[in-house]
Amino acid sequence: MLILGIDTSCDDTSAAVLEDRKILSNIVSSQIQFHSKYGGIVPEIASRKHIEWITDVTEKALNEAHISLKDIDLVAVCHGPGLIGSLLVGLCFAKALSFASKKPIIGVNHLEAHIQAVFLEGKYPEFPFLSLVVSGGHTSLYRVEDFGRYRELGRSRDDAAGEAYDKIAKMLGLSYPGGPLIDALAKEGDPEKYRLPKPFLHGSFDFSFSGLKTAIKVLLKNLNIQEGNPPEDFKKDLAASFQSVIVEVLIEKIRLALKEEKLNRVVITGGVAANSELRRRAMDLEKDGFEVYLPSKALCTDNAAMIAVAGFHKFQRGERSDFFLNARAYLPL
Ligand code: KG4
Ligand code: ZN
Repeated sequence: MLILGIDTSCDDTSAAVLEDRKILSNIVSSQIQFHSKYGGIVPEIASRKHIEWITDVTEKALNEAHISLKDIDLVAVCHGPGLIGSLLVGLCFAKALSFASKKPIIGVNHLEAHIQAVFLEGKYPEFPFLSLVVSGGHTSLYRVEDFGRYRELGRSRDDAAGEAYDKIAKMLGLSYPGGPLIDALAKEGDPEKYRLPKPFLHGSFDFSFSGLKTAIKVLLKNLNIQEGNPPEDFKKDLAASFQSVIVEVLIEKIRLALKEEKLNRVVITGGVAANSELRRRAMDLEKDGFEVYLPSKALCTDNAAMIAVAGFHKFQRGERSDFFLNARAYLPL
């Protein structure tokens, strides 16, 4: 079956075509250049760019897959969580395509899609498994029993890990998104140089990263360093110190959750799962006998192939959406 996936939940305009689980095309058009000077995403700009680009991006996805709209069997679209104006663009566009082509439409949760990115590549986990979704908007741990059966074990109480990366990057004078930049800088820094608090929230699988921001603010003040313009060496060491704390918390929580839930498989996904230190440390879990599944970096960050594969599995389970499908900024799994 041929599935057209559409994702406009945040600042990437994306369309993909799958043949069952096989990716025929996966186009991601990034708006970063229009947002980076503001140090974050400007929702109004994001919606306008989605409107400008969605038709071209979808045509490109169909062309690259060597098919046309009439060949599609299912339209899968992300309807939340995300920026409401952005979501509405993809949703209205998908409804129009479904109406015009008389093909079914199915709404997909963005977090479910991040988890299901693992089914786009050769090695699939068996159920049940643990999943950490770690992105710009979310840091959540789930027990995944089966397709469509998720139990949230914990989530971020304040900043998501990606959000923390982006905010610290801004304090270091780096552009948006800060995650990949801190990742690169940290490789040249000393992770032991600055002792930052490790926010572990004992007795819970929740996360809290906003205190790190405050600790770094205080550190800058004590060292008399101007926010947004620190010296190069400081940037490298702080990036390494900050990253080592975040990654340690994520890995330790995974280890605890695996133990408590008596699971031996974990899927780590979402934009921050593209982080090289997190990927390296995740491999330590393999040495302890756990199975670790990390989608390739391009499938960890936002893309429409993950929407299409989650839509495919929902369709196979007999689920359908209709034209009353609405966009939701908040949509828990
Ligand atoms: O999943 P995603 O593409 O979008 C959301 O659903 O939020 O995640 C984007 C987030 C951003 O905060 C970005 O800074 C972070 O993922 N990110 C990274 C890396 N690549 C992207 N964070 C740390 N290291 C990376 N290499
Ligand atoms: Zn995402």
